[in-house]
Amino acid sequence: MTETEIRDEETEWAITGVIDVPWNLVVPTVDVHLVGYGNRFPNDFTLEMLAVLRRCKRIFAVPPIHAPDFGIPPMESLMHLYGPDKRRTETYAEMLDLVLAAAAADPPVAFATYGSAMVGATVTHRLLAEAQRRGLTTHVTNAVSSFDGIWADFNIEPFYGFEVWEASTFARLGIEPNTRANLLLPQAPVFDVAEGLDPDTMTIRASTTVAVLRDHLLRFYPPDHMVHYVKSGAGAGPHLVGADIESVPLRDLDHPGRQPLSTLFVPRAAGTGNARLDFDSPALRGAQPA
Ligand SMILES: C[S@@+](CC[C@H](N)C(=O)[O-])C[C@H]1O[C@@H](n2cnc3c(N)ncnc32)[C@H](O)[C@@H]1O
Repeated sequence: MTETEIRDEETEWAITGVIDVPWNLVVPTVDVHLVGYGNRFPNDFTLEMLAVLRRCKRIFAVPPIHAPDFGIPPMESLMHLYGPDKRRTETYAEMLDLVLAAAAADPPVAFATYGSAMVGATVTHRLLAEAQRRGLTTHVTNAVSSFDGIWADFNIEPFYGFEVWEASTFARLGIEPNTRANLLLPQAPVFDVAEGLDPDTMTIRASTTVAVLRDHLLRFYPPDHMVHYVKSGAGAGPHLVGADIESVPLRDLDHPGRQPLSTLFVPRAAGTGNARLDFDSPALRGAQPA
C-alpha cells in the first residue's frame, strides 16, 4: 500500500490545510428520517434535508412547510393531534405510533419539525429509541436550532459555560443552576402548561405561574439580575433576521413575555471571576427594563 492510499480525508486535510469537497451528497438509506428544517425559511435549508425529504414516501410534520420551489413534497400535518384540553404526552405517543407504523408499512418516511430535530423535540428522541426496538433504522439530519440564533443574538460562546433546562422541568425538579454558566430556559412562556396548542387557532395557553419560576431563580440570583426573553430570528420574510428581546430585572419576572415561542436567557452571575469568558454583546448593552 502506498503512502497516498492509506491517507484518509482528515490526514489529507492536515497535510494540505484545505478540505476538498466532493460534488456528491452522501444520503443515508434508512427507514425513518428525523429531519429538522431550521428556523428561517428558506435560509436554514440544507442540501441533505432537501435530498432526504425528496426520497421519502411520506413526510409527517409538526408543523408542515410548503416549499415546492425547493422540490419538497407535500407534508402530512400532525398538528391536529394537539389539543387545548389534551396533555402533550398523549399527543406525542400518538405521533410516535403513526410514524413508526408508516415506516414499517412502506419506508422510508420522515418526521420533520422546525429547528433541529434533536432540540426540544420529545417525539424525535422517542422515535430514535423506539424505532430501534422495532427493528427500524433511523438517521437524523443535522439542522440549525434556536440555540444558534440565541448564541448569535447575545454573542454567547457555549464552550465557556452553558446550561439549558426546559423551564418547567427546571423548577419542578428544583434544579440548582450553575450560576457561573449562561443559562437558557426554553418554554418559559408556557411554564407549567401541560396542554398542547389549539390546532384551530395555532395558539397555546400562556403561563400564569411564571412567578414560581422567578421565585426559584431568586434562590440563586439577585433580584436586580437582568434576564431576557428572546425570540431569535425565525419564519419567512424580512423579519427572520433580527431578534425580539424583552429584558426585565429578575424581581419583575411574573409574566410570560410577549412572544410565546421565546426562551428565557439568564446570564451568568456577576462577580464569579468569569469576565474573560464573555464577549461584548450589543443586545445586552442596549438591554433596559421593559
Ligand atoms: C418544542 S421546542 C422546539 C425547538 C426547536 N426544535 C429548535 O431546534 O429550536 C419550542 C421551544 O423552543 C424555543 N424556541 C423555538 N424557536 C425559538 C426562537 N426563534 N427563539 C427563541 N427560542 C425559540 C422556545 O423556548 C420554544 O418554546
